[in-house]
Amino acid sequence: MDSFNTKAVHGEKLPKFIQSKVTPIYQTSVFSFDSLEEMEGYYNGESPYLYTRTGNPNSDELANVTSRLEGAPAGVAASSGLGAIMAAVLAVAKNGDHILAARDVYGGTFYMLKEELARMGIETSFVDFEDQEAVEAAIRPETVILYTESITNPFLRVENLEKMADLAKQKKLVFIVDNTFATPFLVKPYEFGADMVVHSATKYIGGHSDVSAGVVVGKKEYIAAARSRVVNIGLNLSPFESWLACRGAKTLGLRMERQSANAQKVSEWLRMQPKVKDVFYPKGVSEKGNGAIVTIHLADHTDEAAFFRSLGWIQIVPSLAGVETTVSWPFGTSHRSLNAEEKAAVGVSEKTVRISIGIEEADDIIGELEKALAKA
Ligand SMILES: Cc1ncc(COP(=O)(O)O)c(C=O)c1O
Repeated sequence: MDSFNTKAVHGEKLPKFIQSKVTPIYQTSVFSFDSLEEMEGYYNGESPYLYTRTGNPNSDELANVTSRLEGAPAGVAASSGLGAIMAAVLAVAKNGDHILAARDVYGGTFYMLKEELARMGIETSFVDFEDQEAVEAAIRPETVILYTESITNPFLRVENLEKMADLAKQKKLVFIVDNTFATPFLVKPYEFGADMVVHSATKYIGGHSDVSAGVVVGKKEYIAAARSRVVNIGLNLSPFESWLACRGAKTLGLRMERQSANAQKVSEWLRMQPKVKDVFYPKGVSEKGNGAIVTIHLADHTDEAAFFRSLGWIQIVPSLAGVETTVSWPFGTSHRSLNAEEKAAVGVSEKTVRISIGIEEADDIIGELEKALAKA
């Protein structure tokens, strides 16, 4: 080995066992083998990794930690929350099937179900999940999935998971729950009977607004099918994004505890403000807290643009769940794709402000909101 270019690309082989404290980033698109026999081992289950799209230790670590926290037996990571939802839905539904979804699911999920899946011949009906009769009436012979969120975005309706799981079981539907807002620190839908639980790990699991990632966890047979969609459609998550999300997951409980306590205080203060017409903050989600999102409707006479302009260190961010308090405007971002009628049905207006509460001191958060409300 004497030419420059050969020396540049062929270094020493890594020792097989290096005990690093933290899982290293397996930033590789493919894995190598010492022999054809060893490579054959991949196909008969002796060796776990062949090619990163079909599996990588970092994306498996994210799937495993999420499964552990949710109390589910299996999981698979995906490129984003929507990637995870797509993999979960396509694990079950095929051309000609029908999905029944809560009408107040996240706007991106709404669009994906209504438009993208419709293009594949999978139709979705959106129904008020508070109205059990309407839900039952919307079930068709070709319905295969009941889809909802444990806490909805942006009005934080808390789903009755037990009731929905029972209905799904009775009607032989696969029950899929998006647990992004609640996180398994507060709610574990699998334990209520969900067949699959999906996450935008972009949010609380990652927790630092520096990664786009998704995870599906649930029953083994469904996760095997979801994994096949991830692998064969190409919805896999990169090693570095997986690693970042895993690092975030380590502090999920600490962050949720602190952020939920802050959100409780901020929501109580907001209820006393004359420039705030409505405060949406759930009750009874868990004894550990009620989540870290507070949604408000500014009063009719207020100037929402002035409110957003006057927020000081609270940034306007069309996402949520970082350690910093941020605000978003669902009307112009997450729910932009809904038409006027759909927005009205969900209750999103120009006056809707979704506040993602961070880990700062609650009184400091209140101080910033107070200044902005004074200008609104
Ligand atoms: C509840 C919920 N589910 C899914 C998603 C989609 O996640 P991602 O943006 O990671 O695809 C979002 C994004 O905001 C969300 O709020």
